[in-house]
Amino acid sequence: MTINLLIIGGDGDLALRKLYPALYSLETGEHLSNVGSITAMARTDRSTQDLQTKIQEKLSEKLVLNSNAWSTFSEKLSYHTGDATSVDAMLSYKDNLNISSNDVLIVYLAVPPKVFGSIAKALGDAGLVNANTRIIVEKPLGEDKQSFLEIDKQLNSVFSEKQIYRIDHYLGKESIQNLLALRFSNLIFTKLWRAEYIDSVQITVAETVGVEKRAGFYDDIGALRDMVQNHLLQILCLVAMEPPAIANAEMIRAEKLKVLKSLKPISLENISKQTVRGQYDKGSIGNDIVQAYTDDLGHDSNTETFVAIKAEISNWRWATVPFYLRTGKRLKERYSEIDIFFKPLKHNIFANRGTKAEPNHLQISLQPDSQIMLRFMNKKPILGNEMKLQAVELNLSQTSDDAEIVYDAYARLLLDAINEDQTLFISAQEVEASWEWIDGIVKNWKLDETEVFPYQSGSMGPNQAHGMLARDGREWD
Ligand code: BG6
Repeated sequence: MTINLLIIGGDGDLALRKLYPALYSLETGEHLSNVGSITAMARTDRSTQDLQTKIQEKLSEKLVLNSNAWSTFSEKLSYHTGDATSVDAMLSYKDNLNISSNDVLIVYLAVPPKVFGSIAKALGDAGLVNANTRIIVEKPLGEDKQSFLEIDKQLNSVFSEKQIYRIDHYLGKESIQNLLALRFSNLIFTKLWRAEYIDSVQITVAETVGVEKRAGFYDDIGALRDMVQNHLLQILCLVAMEPPAIANAEMIRAEKLKVLKSLKPISLENISKQTVRGQYDKGSIGNDIVQAYTDDLGHDSNTETFVAIKAEISNWRWATVPFYLRTGKRLKERYSEIDIFFKPLKHNIFANRGTKAEPNHLQISLQPDSQIMLRFMNKKPILGNEMKLQAVELNLSQTSDDAEIVYDAYARLLLDAINEDQTLFISAQEVEASWEWIDGIVKNWKLDETEVFPYQSGSMGPNQAHGMLARDGREWD
């Protein structure tokens, strides 16, 4: 059975920066042997040769191409000029590639969601949709629950839920996989993973980039909807969910959904206590002097480029444990991590020796490196009967130094879609439940007229975000 990939918006930024490099890495690892064609469709009139050169240049910016892999890969690549919302474009694609109903067709929509509906219809009308067809879509999946439901309804009129692959590229990151292994394959963690033993959880996704060319789009969305609705809530789900009976798509998605539905809505009364909005001002990152968000944008704005939230999960496992989330642009460093802070010991038997145990801390770093670190207490190796405790770090990471090919999140997810595995893709119900919680925050921000605090570029966000934790007697890691 031949697999054909069709990338709509195939000469755009996402395709060039993420999709072709991911597909090329899969080719290098010989994972694409059953993929017969990779076709880019877009309206700009260009030749296949032109597309191949563009992709080759883009790939060569980061790596030295393997000539065999490139030659196999480029033979599969073709460019098809056409308006993907028209049946004619789809029909001519079908005829050109001689696609039969036995072939698998995977369509990636690397275009804005406003055209998802018409593209799906054109695919259907051209007779390209059958049980062997899959469609991959990417955020933004709406800007609130209502708009998401509309987008989904349009997709559903042509595709069933089993055929729709909603990407959240954070789920394709190596450490996210490792988090599941850590949680569900180690007895010591399964026992401790609950409110009785965990004091609080922090999830940080810090970026150094500003909004760059996306300022216009970003200004209508802001950090809450750009990052928290999807990436941070998905991470939170994986940290908080109950063990699924089997690690398959149906069970994992069902458990994540329960977490999303247990998120406590943030009331109007608590909105300014449990959330902090920030916007980057000028400053410096490394050696670069950078300008303020409003200068990037070209006008004043009340959109947040930073958000910190104290989230609560109302269920037996997590009641009383705050989940502090934060994300922002133009912060000091680019890193994403999950911090699990365990509770302090109930009794210190070394009090008479003047030393004390610090609580255990588990840190799961997603990027730039994929690492897991457990901090625990150890005795300082000194002679005599003096007892001094010290915190030591146990590094649980596997090294990927030996790996010949580095696969990124998109490569993993594309391969999963090729293998018909929806485990790391998001269900419609999850997206809906995330929007419901986020919509509540947006609504209360409006009613409360919640202030957007400026923060210096190169800092870790506005002081108020530190204040939020300080009020709870905690601090950001
Ligand atoms: C995207 C957001 O989903 O994720 C961007 O729209 C953000 O604003 C990006 O920069 C971050 O992804 P990564 O993998 O670079 O951390």
